[in-house]
Amino acid sequence: MTPRITEHDTTVEQGDAFYNPHTTFDRDLTIASLAAFTGTVDTLESYLDTFAATGIRGLRAASELGLAVTINDRSPDAACLIRQNIVLNGMQSRCEVTNEDANVLLHQRRFDVVDIDPFGSPAPFLAAASRSAKKMLCITATDTAPLCGAHLNAGIRKYACVPVNNEYHAETGVRVLMGAIARALAVGDRAMVPLLAYARRHYVRVYARVLKSATSADKSMKQLGFIVHCNNCGFREPVAGIVPRVLDRCRICGHRMKASGPMWLGRLYDLAFCESVYSELIDRESDKQAIKLVGTCKNEINIPTFYEHHLICRAVGVSPMKIDGFIDLLRDAGFEASRTHFSGTAFKTDADISSIAGILAGSAGMTWAGNRAEK
Ligand SMILES: C[S@@+](CC[C@H](N)C(=O)[O-])C[C@H]1O[C@@H](n2cnc3c(N)ncnc32)[C@H](O)[C@@H]1O
Ligand SMILES: [Zn+2]
Repeated sequence: MTPRITEHDTTVEQGDAFYNPHTTFDRDLTIASLAAFTGTVDTLESYLDTFAATGIRGLRAASELGLAVTINDRSPDAACLIRQNIVLNGMQSRCEVTNEDANVLLHQRRFDVVDIDPFGSPAPFLAAASRSAKKMLCITATDTAPLCGAHLNAGIRKYACVPVNNEYHAETGVRVLMGAIARALAVGDRAMVPLLAYARRHYVRVYARVLKSATSADKSMKQLGFIVHCNNCGFREPVAGIVPRVLDRCRICGHRMKASGPMWLGRLYDLAFCESVYSELIDRESDKQAIKLVGTCKNEINIPTFYEHHLICRAVGVSPMKIDGFIDLLRDAGFEASRTHFSGTAFKTDADISSIAGILAGSAGMTWAGNRAEK
């Protein structure tokens, strides 16, 4: 007996094909994002679910949004099951099934939206997906260890990038993937315009508009760069450019700095798009975690790293206060500050590490002497 799965109104037989109930969240977000994107373009005629497994994502796009969908999987068994699932949902008029290797299909045909959700790294498919997508790319990566710097050589092989594995490694992973997407698009004189990008559990997901324009592609490439980081005091600084001059010594403590990149340093979100996705999620009574995630993303400030509150408190020698209270203190001191979806115990700010430490020490009635708090 194969299990029958109902995800909202779409019912699928799983057979031996891959189905992950924990990613309903992610598919809810795909539907809301496609709905929001539809509102920003004249027409959205074709959506390719490139790595479809049971076909649930493409089927939901067809049934919930009325899109013309191509549902592909290289596995003949999966393709057979997808056909059954299309019939089960009465979606024959809107769905086409293909049984191709993703790269072959992507090089042969073009689609308004290309969705890439492979096992592991999307890197082997970025070139073909970037040629195929006319308006939008949706890309998942589950190879977080190479993206975040935990597997350094794999990161260099897959993404031509040296990420440093530190407190904000989850954001680094998102930015390394976005950098790779921007470079793949730029090869064909196209630009990546980020709509929504996030890290969750063991994967990263990026939604981006595709713009056909060499000038826009040049602008997009200017958003690539490096982050230099001091392991001694936590000071960090973004440096734009493919061959930038980077600081060798920390501005705060003089310790040697480490650079990671190249990665995307620009925005992760388009605010109007996120507002629209947020409304779509609420209207569609979507997964509560998805609503929470987008709610946090749309309020995140545009700074390419974040700080773990507990880590700084330990370094300064004070007990952590409520994170929202500390964010208020940073704002009262004239800095930008927000929470971040990357970690529930972290914050983003444009204050540098010594200002943050000074405000933390002050909140505990101490003064910050650069490397220690004093009563
Ligand atoms: C992670 S699953 C996809 C899950 C699906 N998108 C969902 O939301 O349930 C990956 C699928 O990609 C298929 N696949 C693996 N390599 C492929 C390739 N090179 N071309 C096309 N499909 C491939 C596998 O057969 C598997 O069904
Ligand atoms: Zn330092």
